[in-house]
Amino acid sequence: MILIYLCCFLLFAYYLYRKNYTYWERKRIPNEKPFFFFGSFYNVALGKQHIFHKIREIYNKFSTPYVGIYIFNQPNLVIRSPELIKKVLVKDFDKFVNHKLAANESVDPIAFHTLASAKNDTWRNIRAKMSPIFTSGKIKLMFPLMKECGSDLVNYIKKHNGEVMEARDVTKKYAVDIISSCAFGINSYCLKDDNSEILQVATKLFDFKSIIRNISIFSFFFMPKLVDIFRLTFMDKKASDYLMNIFNATMKERRENKIVRNDLIDMLHNLKENTTGKAKYIFDDIKVAAQALTFFSAGNDTTSLTITFALYELALNTDIQDRLRKDIRKQYEAHGDFTYEAIQEMKYLDMVLSETLRKYPLTSFLNRESVSNYTFEDSGLTIDKDTSILIPVAGLHYDEKYFPNPEKFDPERFSDENKTKIVPYTYLPFGDGPRICIGQRFATVVSKVALAYVLKDFAVEKTGATNVPLQLDPKVMFIVDKNGVHLKMVTV
Ligand code: HEM
Repeated sequence: MILIYLCCFLLFAYYLYRKNYTYWERKRIPNEKPFFFFGSFYNVALGKQHIFHKIREIYNKFSTPYVGIYIFNQPNLVIRSPELIKKVLVKDFDKFVNHKLAANESVDPIAFHTLASAKNDTWRNIRAKMSPIFTSGKIKLMFPLMKECGSDLVNYIKKHNGEVMEARDVTKKYAVDIISSCAFGINSYCLKDDNSEILQVATKLFDFKSIIRNISIFSFFFMPKLVDIFRLTFMDKKASDYLMNIFNATMKERRENKIVRNDLIDMLHNLKENTTGKAKYIFDDIKVAAQALTFFSAGNDTTSLTITFALYELALNTDIQDRLRKDIRKQYEAHGDFTYEAIQEMKYLDMVLSETLRKYPLTSFLNRESVSNYTFEDSGLTIDKDTSILIPVAGLHYDEKYFPNPEKFDPERFSDENKTKIVPYTYLPFGDGPRICIGQRFATVVSKVALAYVLKDFAVEKTGATNVPLQLDPKVMFIVDKNGVHLKMVTV
């Protein structure tokens, strides 16, 4: 009898397995054959292959406009064609309004109310309120705070002139200083004090060296059930609680002493004060703090990694570095300082940054979820409600067809003349459409300030410890070098 039960159980398990893993076959959609349990992500889940390489592999293996894959047991539709990408991100955005990101309000209210994971009308309401905070005018008001950190960065490098430094360590200090200043209204002194408490907290928030944290982040994207079962939080709980306390204390101090600093805290304070009981979305303490934490967490690793990769490429391409230095010094002298306008007029700096973001798209992919059944008109492809859509940014950015000789670091791709030739929806470092990165302008100015301050005074050199090419750490979802990026900066 037991044997019969066991056979029935095994047959049923096999039926479920076959049913799930034949989803794309049944829809007659070209697909990658899945491994048992892991789907297409066998090597990624075992830490043998970086997701960046996996996305490129899937993209290159197929030539069809779309392809079905399985991430664990979850079917995902990978969209390769720019026309279809435009439909998902822009034209039919209302049908794909949500990111596929798990968050459980009772376990992790902060993640639940951050812009990145909020869904449907909650997302619409938060985004509408947060967008005015990130206009050029508001960022210009924060510019003096950024300049202070630019000067601190130069002083830090002067102290370590000619020493081999892990570039990520330095740029992280700079990014945390700027974001603490702009988001929390405090000086974190990371560049001045090696033992800065906030730096330790910022590192813990998304500790790339912690296996638990990496599994949590991976689960938020790809294994939502684990988030519920193990009550996972997106950020380290202790670190986010610490930041919440700082945020609340600063808000209180501002309120009591009527201090105005034109930073995010002031703007969030106004948002809270101006939300009436009749508003669709009430910005209470938790929701306001969630936005400040989003700004802090989404802003520091992204910008510090981007600056690091730019420095790395400049160290390998000294001709580009020399030309960039000339451009920076020319604008600096013309304006008599690093003014906001001077930074905006550094054309070559803009080209270098754009090319850095092409070669190093930090998240490798974008994702969306269909809110209803949907038919892509021209292709006749019909997908079900709740289908996960994956846009393979890493594949597009390295497609010869769109970016010839893609391994080459070539800022000329973004000259005034050439950038008009880039096929729309093939260059997506910040995403696109209504859900495009809200911090794009801020990140661009912060990165440019760092590069302008550093390059004006220092030559960036590779060292014996610099990995060429970079070796991505497959355990981390972002693109991060396994051993760090070791560079030398010397006064010129
Ligand atoms: C170089 C730096 C950065 C890169 C490459 C980057 C990239 C991205 C990407 C690819 C997305 C997804 C967009 C989409 O789905 O279409 C995103 C979303 C987001 N980013 Fe950034 N980001 C950067 C810096 C920042 C900064 C400084 C902030 C700080 C405010 C920020 C806040 C956000 C938020 C809140 C979202 C979610 C937006 C929404 O769902 O409405 N990012 N970012």
